[in-house]
Formats: sequence, structure tokens, C-alpha cells
Amino acid sequence: MTTAAVARHRTAMSRSSLSRPLATAAADQLLAPGSSVFDYGCGRGDDLRHLQALGYAADGWDPAHRPHAERQPADVVNLGYVVNAIEHPGEREQALRGAWDLARQVLVVSARLTWDARNLAGRPLGDGLITRTGTFQKFYEQAELAAWIEQSLGVQPHAAAPGIFYVFRDPALAQQFLASRVYRYRPRIKIDPHDLYETHRDRLAPLLDFLNEHARPPRSGELPPGQQQAIQEAMGSIGRGLQLIRQVTDQAHWENVTAQRRAELLIYIALSRFGRRPRFSQLGTTLATDIRTLFGTYQSACEQADRLLVACGDPAMIMVTARSSKIGKQTPSALYVHRTALGELPPVLQVYEGCARVLTGTVEGANMIKLSVTQPQISYLHYPRFDRDAHPTLAAAVTVNLRKLTADWRDYSQSDNPPLLHRKEEFLSSHDPRRALYERLTRAEYRAGLYEHPERIGTLKGWQETLSAVGVTISGHRIMRGASATKAKVASSGQVGARAAADAR
Ligand SMILES: C[S@@+](CC[C@H](N)C(=O)[O-])C[C@H]1O[C@@H](n2cnc3c(N)ncnc32)[C@H](O)[C@@H]1O
Repeated sequence: MTTAAVARHRTAMSRSSLSRPLATAAADQLLAPGSSVFDYGCGRGDDLRHLQALGYAADGWDPAHRPHAERQPADVVNLGYVVNAIEHPGEREQALRGAWDLARQVLVVSARLTWDARNLAGRPLGDGLITRTGTFQKFYEQAELAAWIEQSLGVQPHAAAPGIFYVFRDPALAQQFLASRVYRYRPRIKIDPHDLYETHRDRLAPLLDFLNEHARPPRSGELPPGQQQAIQEAMGSIGRGLQLIRQVTDQAHWENVTAQRRAELLIYIALSRFGRRPRFSQLGTTLATDIRTLFGTYQSACEQADRLLVACGDPAMIMVTARSSKIGKQTPSALYVHRTALGELPPVLQVYEGCARVLTGTVEGANMIKLSVTQPQISYLHYPRFDRDAHPTLAAAVTVNLRKLTADWRDYSQSDNPPLLHRKEEFLSSHDPRRALYERLTRAEYRAGLYEHPERIGTLKGWQETLSAVGVTISGHRIMRGASATKAKVASSGQVGARAAADAR
């Protein structure tokens, strides 16, 4: 087949919801209300319709499907799965540059990854292959895609998710995005009863939130004007509002918030070493003020952050820190932590995990993170039924090897014997409200003798065999014995039958 016979237009598919790159950008708050979006290589235009329905000023161009549309600048430009479909490397780069030229704030570039191609048959052509439907597909490694974007545009892209990168026009916006990716943990705040505070609680809420997020009072202009005015009207001044908040809260809380915010900033600054660390003048005002308030100078913060980065590259330090972590479940080779508890990990381990996210971005659906202590490797695990099932099974895993700079995906959803979890409470924060329920079940499982052979229960089949050997079943988060186990079994198989019948309708 000559390249002229490649059916590029056929790569465009119909979409019933926003495409993953645009949904990711929306989740990352890059599509501010009212922003303009241009979809470069928009295919049949389904994303345009969804964006317009959401109230965005959206337009797009596609050489096959909307060839006469004008290519125009926009706040956000999307180049969604276009580069895979172009067989000439030079034209691929032209498309990337063409899209970048139109982006006023951010370009979202996405491409299919080599792991998508595992079961795809095709004939090799150039650096890709021709599929059975006659389309060309060039599949990328995550690191290869990042390097190609940077080489072509001369700007460092930031991984949003596997196969999705953001390229920011304004370095301050890029840094704001990176700083926002650090996991955040705040202790619960206790407010003492106070009549005046109660009267103005709602008006003071934005001030309390700002203090709690930044560990410092806002400067003039950092609160939205309406909110600032409401506080001034109620209290006379922002300073009086601050005084009242201090009066009804505990000093120890604010010391804790300061320590947390300092750690977040250090983690962000450590990770900003990948690529080029920004100059202080390239940071947005709020971020720069946080750093100056909590560290005195940017240089001092950078020195402390570099020490953190060096520690994170030391396997012995990772091992010792992981072993003494109060958060997460320990196994001989790793520390496992639920996503919601990551912000409570020691900073060295957060930087370790952050290094993997520099490469992959956010792995969709990953709710359990495995930090290996025997090799530089982080895995993002997807347990879709973590909350619902007492012993949820693994559906998919993305493993990042920090030495080889590779990201690999493995699907367990079709496996008849996937890994499964026990003792779910151990993955969670000590303050997590789910812990009590999970702990009760674990105690009952111990008493029933279900953990006597830990080597047998790590996968679904071994666990099911252990349950039937002991003569119990699990219903919800409760253990059922003997006759009640049999009853529950019958009841739950009845439920499954009823569900299957309902599904078939
Ligand atoms: C896989 S589709 C993706 C369509 C859409 N962005 C989406 O995500 O649904 C690839 C699209 O790239 C378009 N395309 C091919 N060559 C292009 C080029 N040089 N510049 C822009 N788009 C191109 C094709 O016409 C096709 O519609």
C-alpha cells in the first residue's frame, strides 16, 4: 500500500461523551468557565458538540471532516489522537506546531500508547503500522511522546495522564498546575463555640479556607473581591476577621497546617527539578508569596527541596522511610497506600511517588499506590470496587520503572484469578471513617482462622478455597458462619440471579 492510500479520515470515531484528553483537562481545571477551545483535527466534531453543550466557545478544524473551517487561536487547543494517524513524521510535527501556534494558554496533546497496540494486527509502515481498516497508527511510549513534543516545540510538556500532555504558554500557569498536583492533607479543624463567629461563619469561610490552604493570611486581591468586601462589611476589616478565626481555633492546628504547607511546597519544588526549575519570577504571585512566607527565600526552599530529592534517590533511605511509615500496608517488597492517604506519607515518599507521576501524570481510576522498596518502581493499581467489596480484586495496573523510565499497563479485568485485598483498613489514613467497619471484619476473619495461610489468600481462587475450607462466607463487610453462611450464599446467589435477569432486560 502506498502512503497515499492510507485512510486517515477513518481514524475519527463517534464519541458519546467528552474525549479523555478534554475530560482530563476539565478535571484539572484548565477549562475555566467561558474559555475558548479549538479542536485541531476534530474528526467528526463530537467533542465540539459536547463542549458547546457545556457552555464553551468551541470550534474546530479537520482536514477530512471540517476542511473549510477557519483555524483560529483559542485559550485551550486540543490535538486529540491526531499525531498517531499521520504517517509522515514531518507532517506530524507540522500538525503539532500548527496546533501550538493557536494555543493562547495551553495545548493538550494526546496519542495512543504502545500498550494500546498489544492485540492490534497490522503491516509495518515507516515507524508505525497499517491496520486492517487501512488506517495508519504510530504508537508512542510515554517518555518518547514527551521527548518528541519538547524537541518539536522547544517547550517542556507536562504529563497529565498516560498518553496525554499539557504544553503551557505561560510558565506561571505551568507551575501552578504542578504545585496543584501535590497531594494535600489537612487535619480536621475544631471551632470553639462563639456567638460572633457563628453569626458571620458563612462570610468568614473563604478566609478560613485560604488560611487553611496557604498557612498565611491572604494579601490584598488574593480573595475574590465580593468575598473580601463581605468580610470587611461584617467585621470592619480582614484583620479583625483573622483575629476572630484565631480566637475560635487552636494554635496547634495552625502549626500543623504550616508544617503541611511547607512539606507540600518542598515536594513541589523538588519535583520541579525535572526539566528546568523555574526562576522565582516565573512563579505566580500566590505561589511565590507562599514560598517567601514559609521559607524566607526561594533559594533556601530550593536547597531543602534538593536534599529531599537526593534522599529520594537513595534506596536505603526509601527502605527506612517506608518501613517507619505510619501510613500504608507493609509487605516485604513494598508499601501500599490508598490514594486518599498519600498526602500523609513522609515527604521523601511523596517525592518518590511524584517522580513516577512526572512521567505518567494521573493514572485514571488508580486508587491504590504501591511503592516498591526493593527497586525504583511505583505501581498505580485500580480496584474499582474498593469501597463496595470487602475483598476487592485488581482490575488494572500501571507500573512505572524510574530507572528505565518506562510505564507499562497490565489488564487483570479478564483474569479468573486476580490479586485481591484483605485488611483494607491498613491502606487508609488513621482518620478515615471507613476504618472502623474494615477493622471489625479483619478481627472476625482472624478469629475465624482465615489468615492462617497468608501465602494462599492473595488471589481470588485461593481466598475462595480458604473461605469454603473454613465454612464461612462474606456478606457485605460481615462474616457468616455455618447455616447463616449457607443462607447468605443462597440469598446472595439469588441476588446475583436477580441482577443478571435485570441486566438482561
Ligand atoms: C483518531 S482521529 C481523532 C479525532 C478527534 N480529535 C477525536 O479525538 O475524536 C484523527 C483525526 O486526525 C485528522 N488528521 C489527519 N491528518 C491531520 C493533520 N495533518 N492535521 C490535523 N488533523 C489531521 C484526521 O482527519 C482524523 O479526523
